[in-house]
Amino acid sequence: MAIKKVLVVGLGLMGRGILQVCAQAGFETYGYDVSKEAGEKAMGYIGTSLAGRVAKGKITEEAKTNTLKNIQIVSDLQAAANVDLAIEAVFENIKVKQDVFRTLDAALQPDAIIASNTSALPATPLASVTKRPDKFIIIHFHQPPTVMRLIEVVRAIQTSDETAAAAMDFCKAIDKDPVEIKVDCPGFLTNRTMVPLLNEVICCIYEGVATKEDIDLAYKSGFNWPMGPVQLCDFIGLDTLLHIMEDLHHRRGGDKFIPCPLLSNMVAAGYLGHKSGKGFYDYSKK
Ligand SMILES: NC(=O)c1ccc[n+]([C@@H]2O[C@H](COP(=O)([O-])OP(=O)(O)OC[C@H]3O[C@@H](n4cnc5c(N)ncnc54)[C@H](O)[C@@H]3O)[C@@H](O)[C@H]2O)c1
Repeated sequence: MAIKKVLVVGLGLMGRGILQVCAQAGFETYGYDVSKEAGEKAMGYIGTSLAGRVAKGKITEEAKTNTLKNIQIVSDLQAAANVDLAIEAVFENIKVKQDVFRTLDAALQPDAIIASNTSALPATPLASVTKRPDKFIIIHFHQPPTVMRLIEVVRAIQTSDETAAAAMDFCKAIDKDPVEIKVDCPGFLTNRTMVPLLNEVICCIYEGVATKEDIDLAYKSGFNWPMGPVQLCDFIGLDTLLHIMEDLHHRRGGDKFIPCPLLSNMVAAGYLGHKSGKGFYDYSKK
């Protein structure tokens, strides 16, 4: 099935970036959020981001205008009922997401694919609340969606081959690098493997093995990482990291996903990383 029209539901940090990426690729793109303010903020953010790209010579003024023309913020889902694909990016809460999927299932035309941008929730219980579970899939963008090329495409056990193929084609059409995750498993691929590594790095800081600066230098110089793992923790957000660790520990068991006490304490202190102005590094002056 060829995807031409896309709806993004939830226009926060991720949703607004997904909206921009789809519109930039020429898709007729609709955005919906329960908060009117979030829709307005998303358009302001996209306008600023595109203007920055024009200033840097990355896109033309005409491309900026065309991208903005491709976006329509709607206050009623009926206005986007004929889309081919809806991507949900609301709060990471299974009940909130399941409510959104029930609503989308009732509102959208019967062939539309319904996708979630969840970071860690399993696909199958999300698909199960719809009457079209074969047309459900996870399309997991990475932050920020306008920059990061990776998308994990995760199948629920009910997802059809046709839906998975359409989702992979869509990701390529928006100029991303999709990786198909064939099993609906906690943490998918990247969080499952990367988050325990980041937690171990935090344990090294906790034990005084090396300074945060030297740990970052080790990974940049030793493994050619563009940013060090401590900087990466701050960028992801320490609360997000803790949430993923706790979820993986709960669902996978064992001791591999037990959060380092330093991570829990940093979050309890409100040191969340880049977004709060302080994490392992200080961003208050930037
Ligand atoms: N932040 C990240 O680094 C990251 C990376 C990959 C995936 N994700 C996932 O993307 C999703 C969104 O994360 P975010 O960081 O953009 O969150 P956010 O808090 O920035 O934005 C969520 C938006 O959803 C809206 N919303 C809430 N309930 C809604 C509903 N019922 N209908 C419509 N809109 C609703 C809110 O008003 C808000 O604007 C989550 O599932 C998260 O796990 C986040």
